[in-house]
Amino acid sequence: MNTQTWIQHYETNAAVHDQIRFESLGCSLPDSIRLPLCQSLAVFQLGESGGGTRLRRYAREVAPLENFRGYQRAIDLFVCEEQAHSRLLARLVKHLGGQLIQKQWTNSIFRRLRFLVNLEFAIQVLLTAELIAEVYYGTLYLRVKDPSVRSVCQQILRDEMKHLAFQREFLSERLQTFSGAGRWFWQAQFRLIHALTTRVVAWDHRGCLRALGVSMTDFIQRCTQAQARFQQRLDQHVTDLDFSLFSEEKLAGESQIEVAR
Ligand SMILES: [Fe+2]
Ligand SMILES: [Fe+2]
Repeated sequence: MNTQTWIQHYETNAAVHDQIRFESLGCSLPDSIRLPLCQSLAVFQLGESGGGTRLRRYAREVAPLENFRGYQRAIDLFVCEEQAHSRLLARLVKHLGGQLIQKQWTNSIFRRLRFLVNLEFAIQVLLTAELIAEVYYGTLYLRVKDPSVRSVCQQILRDEMKHLAFQREFLSERLQTFSGAGRWFWQAQFRLIHALTTRVVAWDHRGCLRALGVSMTDFIQRCTQAQARFQQRLDQHVTDLDFSLFSEEKLAGESQIEVAR
């Protein structure tokens, strides 16, 4: 895994969030949109606010592996970026006249789920949330005609696309060590958990989606497409790694034959 590139990316990106200024802008959204939007954004704000303590602890497990050198630092910076999203969303919710929340049932489930098994599963649950976030922030960006909402969503969306690539790189290296059956099982349970989570999130945010003229079915469909796109790229990544490993082994075998001659 090219952890140095990710460390550099997160370090460079760190200053961006606090530079986004929208407090001086007015808000002309009607209450029929503003109120459900604030409620919905407050849930996402809470979701982005985790301290990442257990994720960092899990990351220490892979830190000694050669191909994950620097992963720990990259995860630290990744968690900082998620917290920057949380601060940005908190400012936005207040700007729109909404209230922040301290606890919410879907968020509690996510947090508990994330740490049930191991690092791969923790990343997978995070990834599931990020795939849904991609569709959510994209929908808000396109549907909410308010400059503050659009600028925040655009930045978070940009970051989350990078997060997806970050998780993809990690998972492809881990999946490469799985057997064919192991990969199949991983893919099946990932698709299932994603499908269930998407339906829960769509239901939980139905008020906001309705206000924006997006049906739950449409939202679920877009999330399903996002998951399929991610899986396709992940498979390609794993295949590329398989191929490069095969080529290295072949080269090593050929050079041994040469030496033996
Ligand atoms: Fe985020
Ligand atoms: Fe993220």
